[in-house]
Amino acid sequence: MVNLLLEWFEANARDLPWRRTRDPYAIWVSEIMLQQTQVKTVIPFWDRWMKELPTIRSLAQAKPEKIHKLWEGLGYYTRVRNMQKAAKLIMREHGGQFPATFAEVLGLPGIGRYTAGAICSIAFNQPQPILDGNVMRVLTRAFGIEGNPRDKAVNARLWDLAEGLVKQANRSSISHEAFPRKRGASEKIANRKSQIANPSAFCSQLNQSLMELGALICRPTAPLCGGCPLSKLCIARKERCVDTLPNLAPRPQSTQRRFVAFVVRNGAKVLARQRPPGVVNAHLWELPNIEVPNKDGEPRKAALELFGVAPAGLAPLCTIRHSITRYRIRLDVFEWHDAEAANFKSKTGRWIARNELRHLAFASAHKKILDHLAYSKAISL
Ligand code: ADE
Repeated sequence: MVNLLLEWFEANARDLPWRRTRDPYAIWVSEIMLQQTQVKTVIPFWDRWMKELPTIRSLAQAKPEKIHKLWEGLGYYTRVRNMQKAAKLIMREHGGQFPATFAEVLGLPGIGRYTAGAICSIAFNQPQPILDGNVMRVLTRAFGIEGNPRDKAVNARLWDLAEGLVKQANRSSISHEAFPRKRGASEKIANRKSQIANPSAFCSQLNQSLMELGALICRPTAPLCGGCPLSKLCIARKERCVDTLPNLAPRPQSTQRRFVAFVVRNGAKVLARQRPPGVVNAHLWELPNIEVPNKDGEPRKAALELFGVAPAGLAPLCTIRHSITRYRIRLDVFEWHDAEAANFKSKTGRWIARNELRHLAFASAHKKILDHLAYSKAISL
């Protein structure tokens, strides 16, 4: 199985920018960005980040506004704050060198077993297993595992299988004889000029082959079994249960929530506020807004509650739809641009010059409003 995976990966791996490096910092950044976010979304974020903050030191020293701005649009901002905490810890306790043992990597803020395994295997070619959603799907299907992969015992079994594979890849790299590929194949792999940094780093390649197979072939729906290197071995395929594996419990039902937001203008300034620490999207900026009942988005009532005044001149601007975790959010946006706004003394935010808005990191739904108004053009730090 290991040889099939390595050969398939060599021939089919996408040329992703973080695959051209073995810098553990760069790989760490990619792995954190790739949590909850798709590869094609991450690429421009990763490129920009590596240009602006190319080293651990630069991350440790960056202003919080800068890291939030670079993360704007990726969501789950605790991730980026943890990265800065970790960078500071690396400067303090590891002399600025990314640690190279699994236990030390696991000890960094924001790094769990999966991420530590990914960094240690990809950057250092260590035989550490990984198990994320993609890998879980490949393994439950290939090995025909019927239990819920989130159950403790089933999960432990999947980690064991992942570990077995990466250890086998490690032995393979030590001795090609012990696990011979097709004649000459391993030499071909080791010698071929590849975009992939060090294609003979078999632990790294094996783990990435599992991720890649899950992303490209062994997809959640409509898997492309015809193009799968494991199709002859795959138990789910043999037993015709590919569509029912992995056997995950259904997701909890999503909840609808509705908000009303206001673009309040005062000449060339717009009212905006920063979210407090300890809440969702902490530290990010947003336009003044308030949650309203799903059945009643009456904007004057919302304004009265938010600002203590019910303005006469409210004009509907747009409706933004946004999903975060299990919430489906509807955000109705109104402009308030009559004379009242000019004298408006608000406790609900600060007046920000329009051309300053694009320097601030806004929560995604509010960034969409600024995009709608063309107030937030290209990033500028
Ligand atoms: N998903 C998680 N880590 C990844 C990686 N290194 N490459 C592609 N997709 C991934």
